[in-house]
Amino acid sequence: MHYDKIIVLDLGSQTNQLISRRIRDLGVYSELYPHTIKAADIKALTHIKGIILSGGPGSIYDKNALNIDPEIFKLSVPILGICYGMQLLAHHLGGTIEKTPKREYGGAFIEKVHDSPLLKGLDKQEQVWMSHGDHVTSLKEAYTITAKSPACEIAAFENLNNTLFGVQFHPEVQHTLKGETLLKNFVFDICKAKANWTMDNYLDNQIKTIQTATNGKNVILGLSGGVDSSVTAVLIDRAIKERLTCIFVDHGLLRENEAKSVMETFAKHLDLNVRKIDAKTTFLKALKGVKDPEKKRKIIGKTFIDVFEKAAKTIDNVAYLAQGTLYTDTIESGTATAATIKSHHNVGGLPKKMKLDLIEPLNKLFKDEVRKLGKALDMPKDMIQRQPFPGPGLAIRIIGTVDETKLALVRQSDHILHEVFEAYNLQKSVWQYFTVLTPIKTVGVMGDKRTYEHVLVIRAVTSLDGMTAEWAKIPHDVLDTLSRRIVNEISGINRVVYDITSKPPSTIEWE
Ligand code: XMP
Repeated sequence: MHYDKIIVLDLGSQTNQLISRRIRDLGVYSELYPHTIKAADIKALTHIKGIILSGGPGSIYDKNALNIDPEIFKLSVPILGICYGMQLLAHHLGGTIEKTPKREYGGAFIEKVHDSPLLKGLDKQEQVWMSHGDHVTSLKEAYTITAKSPACEIAAFENLNNTLFGVQFHPEVQHTLKGETLLKNFVFDICKAKANWTMDNYLDNQIKTIQTATNGKNVILGLSGGVDSSVTAVLIDRAIKERLTCIFVDHGLLRENEAKSVMETFAKHLDLNVRKIDAKTTFLKALKGVKDPEKKRKIIGKTFIDVFEKAAKTIDNVAYLAQGTLYTDTIESGTATAATIKSHHNVGGLPKKMKLDLIEPLNKLFKDEVRKLGKALDMPKDMIQRQPFPGPGLAIRIIGTVDETKLALVRQSDHILHEVFEAYNLQKSVWQYFTVLTPIKTVGVMGDKRTYEHVLVIRAVTSLDGMTAEWAKIPHDVLDTLSRRIVNEISGINRVVYDITSKPPSTIEWE
């Protein structure tokens, strides 16, 4: 089964991932490629129905302006240029681009000045999102101007013979009210793509791919119980059954009942080949006395690799390591020029050390597609809807040094938080919620006695993807129930506070 594809050439825009996202939401496969890709390589991808040139921060006249292989224009595939992509298109076609006297940023109105298959279903005046400093000021005769805006005489253009289209605004962002209509026009009417990107198709393809790729050899996988590693495990199990061994490292930094429930779900109900490694003491020993958050993260990452490697050595004929890497992980690390805020714990260091080849069957999927794949695999709902849980576990939810007593305090409070959120039916509307134990102790009074105990933080956020987040506006009576239950039921905590910072400027986890 093939998928029709619309590819997006990445010219550096912050919203280029979003273009692919929106097209996949229409049921058509879309993927980002570097702008340096050659026309011949695009041809080799097969079933390419259309090409989109993304926006980007640069200017056509910059010394190092990003460009594309001119042979791409000869592929006879419809092309849509967005913002910088439109300017690049115009530039290649002999048009002129000039600096806009005043940068146009934010909501704007365009006016349709000519009928266009791309703008079908858009009104004469439409609200769009603009973000540019340059604009196209002239085009060769063969091109028709289809829309203008107060700041640009050419806000959209086309050449129907060659199926080339340019728009200065961003159809992929929600502030462009009819953006979806425009993308639908491009994808279905102009490119004639079929909506055949479904998780059932993807599942069938992946099963065959995994069977062929592994070629009778064995695969190991680090199972954490999180959505990504769980879906990867069930998918690979479906493809190669007992040739997959999942290694579940219990580092002792898990939530209440978590280790037990992971084993019950995977080994018992789903009948996966899972080995549990009890490494609590090793991790606690390695973390003893360590205060610094980055040091804690690094120690956990390294200890995990050591424990995993030792366990893997006991399995015969292993040639592959499976990982639940997502599409966002690959595109983000590909362009990572950003400073390291936190060193995320994953098993990324493993393949190099263990000389294993990688299998990453989710590396073209966005998070919500992984959940859909989990559904196509008939996985239990609560497993695919789970909120994220960081690799270093509760260790980064204890500020400062980690020990058994403190772990018990976060675990018990986290458990109460879950019970209360479920009782008030907040578990769906709040994206992630947990408790953080601080080393701060304050004075309290309980039953006429003075107490001197820890301050506990409740953190609850709404978010789409964890990249940015808003603190959740939870009702006061829920906060009240939480604070009463936590202080009454857990000895060692006498004060509860609620974190009211969003990300940025804070991060979701405290360490
Ligand atoms: P931050 O704290 O960076 O977290 O705003 C963003 C999201 O990522 C989760 N998180 C992690 N996930 N390994 C993971 O797999 C990690 O080391 C890690 N640190 C944070 C966090 O829970 C939130 O959902």
